[in-house]
Amino acid sequence: MKKIYCGKLNLKNVNEVVELYGWISNKRKFKNQTFIDFRDSSGLVQLVLTNISDPLLTKESCLWVKGKVAKRLEANKSIASGDIEVDVIEYKVLNTSKQIPFEIDKINSANEDLRLEYRFLDLRQEKMLSNLRFRHKLHLEIRKFLDKEGFIEVETPILSKSTPEGARDYLVPTRRKGKFFALPQSPQLYKQLLMASGLEKYFQIARVFRDEDLRKDRQPEFTQLDLELSFANQEDIFELCENMFREVLKPFGFKVKTPFPRMDYFYALDKYGTDKPDTRFEYLIDDLPLKKSELEKLFGKFDNYKAIIFDKNVLEHRKSFEEIFFKNKGEKLFLITKEDVLYSKFNSLISKFKNECTIIVSAGNHYENTLKSLGAIRTQLNEIYKLGSPDQLNFLWLVNWPMFEWNEEENKYDAAHHPFTQFDESTLKYIESKEYEKVRAKSYDCVLNGFELASGSIRIYDPKQQKLMFDVLKLSEKEQQNKFGFFLKAFDYGLPPHCGIGFGIERILMILTNSMSIRDVIAFPKNAKGIDLMSSSPSEVTEEQLKEYSLKIEK
Ligand code: AMO
Repeated sequence: MKKIYCGKLNLKNVNEVVELYGWISNKRKFKNQTFIDFRDSSGLVQLVLTNISDPLLTKESCLWVKGKVAKRLEANKSIASGDIEVDVIEYKVLNTSKQIPFEIDKINSANEDLRLEYRFLDLRQEKMLSNLRFRHKLHLEIRKFLDKEGFIEVETPILSKSTPEGARDYLVPTRRKGKFFALPQSPQLYKQLLMASGLEKYFQIARVFRDEDLRKDRQPEFTQLDLELSFANQEDIFELCENMFREVLKPFGFKVKTPFPRMDYFYALDKYGTDKPDTRFEYLIDDLPLKKSELEKLFGKFDNYKAIIFDKNVLEHRKSFEEIFFKNKGEKLFLITKEDVLYSKFNSLISKFKNECTIIVSAGNHYENTLKSLGAIRTQLNEIYKLGSPDQLNFLWLVNWPMFEWNEEENKYDAAHHPFTQFDESTLKYIESKEYEKVRAKSYDCVLNGFELASGSIRIYDPKQQKLMFDVLKLSEKEQQNKFGFFLKAFDYGLPPHCGIGFGIERILMILTNSMSIRDVIAFPKNAKGIDLMSSSPSEVTEEQLKEYSLKIEK
């Protein structure tokens, strides 16, 4: 007798007696026969039981089966083993299943929180298991590629010190009273120190942690493909990453066009209203072909008027657009359709479209926000009308970033990427003139189909430039030492020029597997509120535990 996987059975096995292990996906009765869709990790096969009525044979019960393979009278073309079935000779119910809380084979049929509570059942769906297999294989291909390129994978500490990525840290109390570790938001400082060590080519598939507001592409705990290399420039790193995607995605059947196009940060903002443009579809942001005074008459007095012309009537989605504008505040939304008397005023803009159009106008005083509102509308239009094909992979590099961004709350400048990013020398003059918004950074993002996949930069290795950076950020000598002292030491001991990048692995997977959110490519994710519903964590700890860490919970 042969132990074999369900999905591997075919006509060659006819008349063989085989042994199978798996789960009951579905069950149908017909006269004295019971037909079972029997599933293991490889796929499905049909079992036939004759004259058996067993209450333990419930959906999702786990069985051992001995049976004889027979040719089916009518083949089922939708499954690999559809030419045959297995006439059961003997079986054992290894573990019977209670009534399942949701239908396993209908992804998204259940509420996501319920799916997450019973994640082990949720993962029984073929789509979910195939996402995990995809992820495993992607990691393998990445490791293979980078190894061939001479990169060394190094694990950096999880119990570490706060890293400068701008989110809130997860803190870990210790038994040293008042002393905490921080979980890394990225391995940034460690990988730069590895360059100081002379490793030259580092990578890591690294788990990192950020306590921030969650979205479909954000989890508190996620994985980065983190890279750093010495004696290299932007061209080297772009070429490396382009080749990597081309090679590692080949076995999955994706064709990646290289080199990736490059787009200036301000062009992206002007035309796409975002720093992560989705270039799979048009509908770019335009100016309105009317004089300022006329625009003021039509839309009210604002500093900026921008528009997207969309070749459909979108009025029925007005509510979701208004929500976007409500969130952004300060900008006003106008939707002008054929019925509107204003429509013909914009003939020069709509003439290139065959169909009826909607002129979507954003009017506001803050230049960036006026554009960003339209950028969010563009994203929403894609969600509604599916403008970008999931089979198309539009990678691009977003370059020429501003170095600083104004922090309204703290009334100071922050580093737009992080404070170890080199200045674009041609813009250093704006430091002297204190026009900090005009200073550009040697940093870059990799964008795919409207998602930020990665950020990176050329790093500072000159202590004078590092000091200049901290001065603009108003970081005192004491704060510098407290936060980064261990890292800044390296500047005095032959720190080489180096650069790097960090990719969000789950975002890559979400796009490539056409998933709804990054939760679908993580085995045990947190829900949208950051809670692990399966294990009910975070959870309370005992008084003894708190005492050991010298902690008290405020009532
Ligand atoms: P950055 O902070 O841009 O750069 O992060 C790099 C990439 O990580 C992914 N990412 C996330 N994925 C899921 N959930 C999150 N909460 C989340 N936050 C970020 C994104 C992002 O592009 N140390 C630098 C990189 C460098 O300079 O080398 C860094 O971490 O895909």
